Amino acid sequence: MSHFELATRLAKEEFRILDAIEISMRKFEWVPMKNIIFYSRIDAERVQFWLDKVHKRDLILRHGGGRKNEGYALNSKGYDLLATHALAEENVVVSIGNSLGVGKESDVYQGIGPGNEFLALKFHRIGRTSFRNIKSKRDYVVGKYHTSWLYMCRVSAMREADHLKRLNAIGVDVPLLKGNNRHVVVMKQYDGQEIQEFDVIDDPAGVFDNVIRNVKKCYREARLIHCDLCEYNIIYTRDKHVIIIDWPQAVPTDHPNAAFFVRRDVENICKFFERHGVVADPAAIVDEITCT
Ligand SMILES: Nc1ncnc2c1ncn2[C@@H]1O[C@H](COP(=O)(O)OP(=O)(O)OP(=O)(O)O)[C@@H](O)[C@H]1O
Ligand SMILES: [Mg+2]
Repeated sequence: MSHFELATRLAKEEFRILDAIEISMRKFEWVPMKNIIFYSRIDAERVQFWLDKVHKRDLILRHGGGRKNEGYALNSKGYDLLATHALAEENVVVSIGNSLGVGKESDVYQGIGPGNEFLALKFHRIGRTSFRNIKSKRDYVVGKYHTSWLYMCRVSAMREADHLKRLNAIGVDVPLLKGNNRHVVVMKQYDGQEIQEFDVIDDPAGVFDNVIRNVKKCYREARLIHCDLCEYNIIYTRDKHVIIIDWPQAVPTDHPNAAFFVRRDVENICKFFERHGVVADPAAIVDEITCT
């Protein structure tokens, strides 16, 4: 059964249990029973019954280990379910289908929207590979509560949604944002492939100019730098448009390392298009993008 179907079968008490655990995970790695009783507003003697039910559905983890660490936590399936349920309630998503891609830090699924349009749902999975590393590297989570994976995934998705919204507003070629809930970003789905998958590109110089034009517009009008721009994060559509994806890590142009990030983005693009016969001078392009 998909998460989506499962969400339609859950009793309201089960959602209350999940909500109560989610709220308390801001403070606790393992949420104690008394918090679940308090936030779920379920009679104390019934809470265990509903907890067992949700546990059996594999939406939460139970941790024994002595009084102090005893408690419950959402697992990623439980968190997915809360997000997709909310997106369905908001009428952003009507159904969820196959996987479109598994990234290092996300799972992307196809969805259908209320107008029967195809959607891409990106589930952020920060720390899937190395939670410890991420904790120290991601500057935007330092100093906030205890940094749970759930919190980091949510922040990452919110940042991506925020960047897409700003870029949509000024017409940069990025996915059209349809919605965001918790760690999920919902976008329009584009019919195409990562540009790295093409052995031959028609008019590579034209496509290259197009990418650079977008980088420049993004820098000058949204004051943003992508910071992970490369051939894996550009979709080349069937109707020959470029769509630049994957925006959680973008930073403002006044970031202390901004100069380094722009240069790296531009060099990556130049290097890729050089393989398709495009001759370009990265330093000159960077100057053109950043000159005031
Ligand atoms: N709007 C979209 N339309 C169609 N496909 C998409 C869309 N967004 C993402 N995808 C697909 O999902 C893949 C992963 O997306 P994205 O690059 O945003 O995630 P990621 O986890 O950061 O990936 P990685 O860490 O591997 O770079 C993309 O390469 C693309 O194939
Ligand atoms: Mg990517």
